[in-house]
Amino acid sequence: MNPLMTPLEAGSPADDGRAFRRSLGQFATGVTVITARHGEQWLGMTVNSFAALSLDPPLVLWSIRRESGALQAFQTAGHFAVNVLAANQVALSNRFASSKADKFGATPWTAGVHGAPLLHGAIGHLECTLHEVVEGGDHLLLVGRVERHARFGGEPLLFTQGRYAVTQEHPEALQADAGAAPVAVAHDVSRGTILRLLHHTSNRMSQAFLGHRLAEGLSVAQFRIYGWLRDQAHTAEDLKRLAYLGGRDADDTLAGLCEQGQLTRDDAGCYHLTPAGRERAQAIVRHVEAFEAELLQEVSEADLAATRRVLGLLAERTARSVA
Ligand SMILES: Cc1cc2nc3c(=O)[nH]c(=O)nc-3n(C[C@H](O)[C@H](O)[C@H](O)COP(=O)(O)O)c2cc1C
Repeated sequence: MNPLMTPLEAGSPADDGRAFRRSLGQFATGVTVITARHGEQWLGMTVNSFAALSLDPPLVLWSIRRESGALQAFQTAGHFAVNVLAANQVALSNRFASSKADKFGATPWTAGVHGAPLLHGAIGHLECTLHEVVEGGDHLLLVGRVERHARFGGEPLLFTQGRYAVTQEHPEALQADAGAAPVAVAHDVSRGTILRLLHHTSNRMSQAFLGHRLAEGLSVAQFRIYGWLRDQAHTAEDLKRLAYLGGRDADDTLAGLCEQGQLTRDDAGCYHLTPAGRERAQAIVRHVEAFEAELLQEVSEADLAATRRVLGLLAERTARSVA
């Protein structure tokens, strides 16, 4: 059967809460940090449940876990500011998702009309008064009335399938705009900048590999975790950073793989592949190698070596420039 037609997971939320969260995670969102001033204290929390609610009156909403230590303060503050994060603010997002006592640290910000911190570098600010609080199971829905809004240049940070992502022009949308056939687009791209070619190729290869990954019954998080653990054991924190995974997605996936006997966790908190896990990781590598070999047919050894050399060089130089 076509692997795309077979659900990876299905069932009732009551049976498996983690699977339910993964299904919810199929929906892509932006990432915000909601801030407020509460007396002499500043609140800040990473939130992706933010949504626009109404244009007239101008209302927005977000939901907060009932168990959050900041709930009471957000309710009594009577206002909040939504900071829409930019693509280069992953570290900031992680910081405001932590339970650190001082989440702001050296983060630069300016006080808004109600004193709520407006974070510098965000691509949008919405300053709100608290309009209504609605019960929502284990969360509360905070509805805000927007008093002031501002928009800045930049690309948004996205969150989907448990991990951060960035926007990228959809190749089909580009084709629709240009009215061109796929081959013509690929041809055009190969004459553009290297960055454009890399984006385009990476997108195409990921799409092409999707069916293979699903045929192996692997989520993106599982796929990356097998890859990183093949050569070396890592802690959950390392894996989140190396594999660009969101905290909860990585934790859930690691727990699931341990339950399946694919991984073990040692006393130092490092995850190791079990013999069964190693066998699986090797099967995955063979699958990826076969996928690449087919794509690389008729590409000469010399061309391949030159491609690897140039890509390696670019990776090294850009790593140095962002360090
Ligand atoms: C991408 C992302 C989105 C999040 N969205 C929400 C959300 O919508 N509501 C919520 O209550 N917590 C959300 N969280 C978790 C909170 O940020 C986190 O629990 C909180 O900052 C912990 O601080 P506290 O201990 O002060 O509550 C999210 C975390 C991440 C990484």
